[in-house]
Amino acid sequence: MGSQWSKDRNYIRAMREGYRSRAAYKLQEIQERHHIMRDDDNVVDLGAAPGSWLQVARQATGGRIVGIDLNPILPIEGVTIIVGDFTRDDTREKARSILGQVSVVLSDASPKLSGHRSYDQARAIGLGEEALAFACRVLKTGGNFVLKSFQGEDFHILLAQVRKYFLSVKTFRCRASRKGSSEIYIIAKNFTGCQYDSEGPL
Ligand SMILES: C[S@@+](CC[C@H](N)C(=O)[O-])C[C@H]1O[C@@H](n2cnc3c(N)ncnc32)[C@H](O)[C@@H]1O
Repeated sequence: MGSQWSKDRNYIRAMREGYRSRAAYKLQEIQERHHIMRDDDNVVDLGAAPGSWLQVARQATGGRIVGIDLNPILPIEGVTIIVGDFTRDDTREKARSILGQVSVVLSDASPKLSGHRSYDQARAIGLGEEALAFACRVLKTGGNFVLKSFQGEDFHILLAQVRKYFLSVKTFRCRASRKGSSEIYIIAKNFTGCQYDSEGPL
């Protein structure tokens, strides 16, 4: 069975089941394996358009949910959408004012790809660092963080940075990722806080 077929199969399944994209199955897998979100968790999703992770998060928790993206997202009941750049202070503060305590930060954000492999990889790592900085600024102690990244040059540096701030950090490849993709998720649990680290991302 070729990758094209499995891509179509996941896409068709997503449309049939009412999800906005096939990415829904990645967060479902992460949730099933790693129990990132609990019943009443407040969640912020970075790079959330078109919104399938928000749909899965809505099913996983009864807490407040905020989705942030550069692009507009069609409304989802029980979810607050912020159209903006999550690397900006004002966007982060808006999310924090809506959520109060944040238990979970999700990031499936990707930069626009140029096709130049090492340039794209460097930008993806940079965006991952920004997502980590966001998480460190808003998460409550004990909170969880899921970060999409891409295996390659400097991935180990990003992973080491995440390890500084969470008690448990694992990597996870989703079955729903495209065949041959270097996409990999960092699953970080139990945030310990950033305030004591002068070398940190803050
Ligand atoms: C792969 S899509 C996310 C798919 C989403 N998880 C879903 O399930 O529908 C990546 C998104 O990251 C967003 N993005 C990239 N950089 C961003 C930034 N600095 N601030 C907000 N969104 C960003 C892009 O606009 C894009 O919509």
